[in-house]
Amino acid sequence: MPIDKSLDLALLEHRHAGMLFAVIDENRDHLRRYLPWVDNTRSVHDSVGFVQATLEQFARSQSLSAGIFFHGALAGVIGYHTIDWANRRTALGYWLSASFQGHGIMTRAVRAMTTHAFTALSLHRMEIRAATDNKRSRTVAERAGYRLEGVCRGAEWLHDRFVDHAVYGVVASDWKA
Ligand SMILES: CC(C)(COP(=O)(O)OP(=O)(O)OC[C@H]1O[C@@H](n2cnc3c(N)ncnc32)[C@H](O)[C@@H]1OP(=O)(O)O)[C@@H](O)C(=O)NCCC(=O)NCCS
Repeated sequence: MPIDKSLDLALLEHRHAGMLFAVIDENRDHLRRYLPWVDNTRSVHDSVGFVQATLEQFARSQSLSAGIFFHGALAGVIGYHTIDWANRRTALGYWLSASFQGHGIMTRAVRAMTTHAFTALSLHRMEIRAATDNKRSRTVAERAGYRLEGVCRGAEWLHDRFVDHAVYGVVASDWKA
């Protein structure tokens, strides 16, 4: 799914697993601050397993995870969490390599994945949840057009403590593509 001439979102495939692990491995300190799964990604086999799981979920229409390619280089990942078809809603998760921050890449990727959810998938509601002190992620949600709906206290175990989640949402009727 090309977004513009510099940015492309593409379904993660097995051939990306080596590249994916290398980017995660180079960005451990940056990513683990807010992503609990980073410490469990210890070898390329873990990334192969991740890609396999996302492909199986995609085949079952449960999810969609895409590599974010900026000028052809893997800059990060964005994906839907499990799609709740009964209520036609899901949430977005995402990360970028530290060196690709500051270009508006994630804001554009979030907008593209949200538009896809509301148009191609006919979903009704989208969410983004970020730890309350994750300023960059909260700014992405706000800049992309999501609205802060509240704070869930103690919502996630992050390494050694529970963190609160700021919950952002948007419904299809409010979305301006
Ligand atoms: C959260 C994360 C993806 C945000 O990355 P980011 O680079 O701040 O977000 P964007 O790609 O949207 O870029 C926004 C920046 O680009 C700038 N920018 C440049 N061109 C832009 C454009 N066309 N549109 C929007 N912003 C643009 C913005 O001013 C902003 O600059 P700033 O860094 O000075 O504030 C990144 O920090 C990350 O991966 N963190 C670790 C993992 C994580 O926390 N994931 C989320 C868990 S909820």
